[in-house]
Amino acid sequence: MAGTSRAQWGSRLGFILAASGSAVGLGNVWRFPYVTGDNGGGYFILIYLVCIALVGIPILAAEIMIGRAGQKQPVGAFAAIEGRRTLWGGVGWLGVIAGFVILSFYIVVAGWSMDYTLKSVVGFTNGIHKSASIEAAQFRGQAPVEEMREMLAERKADETSRSETSAMRRALAPKTWRDLDRMRSAIEGAVDPSAARARLMTDDEVLANVEAAERKEAAIEAVRAEHLERARVEIAALTENDVLERAEDTKRRDLIAEGVGAAFGATASDGWTSAFWSLLFMLMTILIVAGGVAEGIERACRVLLPALLVLILVMVVYGFFQPGFAAAAEFVLRPDASRLLPSSVLEALGQAFFTLSLGMGAMITYGSYQRAEANRAGPGLIGESVAIAGIDTLIALLACLMIFPIIFSFGQAPAAGPGLVFISMPLAFAEIGAGGMLLAILFFGLLFFAALTSSISLLEVIVSYFIDERDWSRTKATWILGLVVLAFGLPSAFSMDPGFVMSGWEPSYGANFFDVMDHLSSNWMLPAGGLLIAIYAGWFMPKRVRDAQLDGLGAPILLGWLLLVRFVAPALVIAVLLQKVGILNIDDLLIGLGG
Ligand code: TRP
Repeated sequence: MAGTSRAQWGSRLGFILAASGSAVGLGNVWRFPYVTGDNGGGYFILIYLVCIALVGIPILAAEIMIGRAGQKQPVGAFAAIEGRRTLWGGVGWLGVIAGFVILSFYIVVAGWSMDYTLKSVVGFTNGIHKSASIEAAQFRGQAPVEEMREMLAERKADETSRSETSAMRRALAPKTWRDLDRMRSAIEGAVDPSAARARLMTDDEVLANVEAAERKEAAIEAVRAEHLERARVEIAALTENDVLERAEDTKRRDLIAEGVGAAFGATASDGWTSAFWSLLFMLMTILIVAGGVAEGIERACRVLLPALLVLILVMVVYGFFQPGFAAAAEFVLRPDASRLLPSSVLEALGQAFFTLSLGMGAMITYGSYQRAEANRAGPGLIGESVAIAGIDTLIALLACLMIFPIIFSFGQAPAAGPGLVFISMPLAFAEIGAGGMLLAILFFGLLFFAALTSSISLLEVIVSYFIDERDWSRTKATWILGLVVLAFGLPSAFSMDPGFVMSGWEPSYGANFFDVMDHLSSNWMLPAGGLLIAIYAGWFMPKRVRDAQLDGLGAPILLGWLLLVRFVAPALVIAVLLQKVGILNIDDLLIGLGG
């Protein structure tokens, strides 16, 4: 892509591969499972799929079309189509800024994938496997059988009561629980606890909330106790040998979980480690974008994308035979509206934009490296969009089916946040033992590569603006902008480090710098950009240009696309954004529909 004359993709297939390389990345394997876990699984996935189909695919086609027609990066493309500079150029600008923000935290997570590749090469999962096995065997040999029975009963009760108790918890609004927490921490620190309680209880609403939460908590305790009684009876019926077997197994899994958790902590909560890997990852992105070895990447994609898919499939099959598979399948596949959070619809929409690389002009840029002609050869504009979205969605769904069985098998929480993939996968690799080391190297290596093919598309958007519109040389633009993004990424790299000044964000805002950048860009900047792109393509793009782009497509496809891009996609995006600003409430509507 780095030539002096405008570069072109080798072929239609080459374009689909490169665009898929941009789309398939951390968004699929890291972000999708973690936001799915945070938002309660099945119903969230359903909304996400609707967003992909009704908003993502039409806007993807619109972006490719604008790029192909304008033969320029986003800022320039609008001017080229219009024949003069217009306000639409602002959409491109918004994209450059969004790219900046996304890339700044993307390199942090990509850096973690490099760290984990290296960790895997030195066999960290092996080490965890060995010490956990030894300690578990000791536990089996030494601990009193009664203690083991109690441990197994507790574990069993956790498992069987989980869905019931978490439904009970969700029956009260988050604010209610927060009031209880607030009250508890006030009492804890107070010299005179009952006075502190009385003071907070003067507010009627707080009073009602605290009492409701305390009542609910007692009810939850009671349910848990019932399950524990039943579990004790069940475990008491086991032979001693069975108890020993199971206790050793459970202990080993616990120890593995502990080791894996500590390993993630060592990476994420050490700002310098995260920053070091971010730097390394950024340098690789810069070298590729500056050197124009993107053709090499395009070729590598042909092998590595299928390889990633195969490896994920292998791990899905592995998960199928794990004890947590049923619980995971239920979590991922059963739409349960009661598990949805108020913010879930926006999260689903944001994820749809993020995973398809939409809303900031990356696909405009990639489309501009395609010849401007119409669709007579190959699958055509819409077909290409469906293919790219299809590959991307397939990998995202499989990633969930890979991660959640492991999570449930080890009794971990699905809502583990951004660390989810780095905690869940090593659990399986450690459990597998020696062969797990090879799988770990492959998995994190491929994840790193998928991240690289996405990050170059992000940097390319930023850089190509400065090349096309500001006449910077590619080398100068790439290095300067890459290093600026890196500097902007440092607060994200340090955001989970307890020693860092800005980690004070977390308690006061409920999110750290990293989370804020992640959600700000995906949930707000990308949908806003995408909305404008849809409106442009549907309503404002000169008909002559649009018709030339759509030439050769069948009438029903054309009509369907126009309907989506003109009405459905903008209406949905606007509705979701408005409801988040508080003007509309579709969650009530959706939850009502879901029963
Ligand atoms: N889609 C990529 C992923 O899933 C990330 C990405 C690349 C991106 N380019 C983008 C996201 C442009 C938004 C916009 O990892």
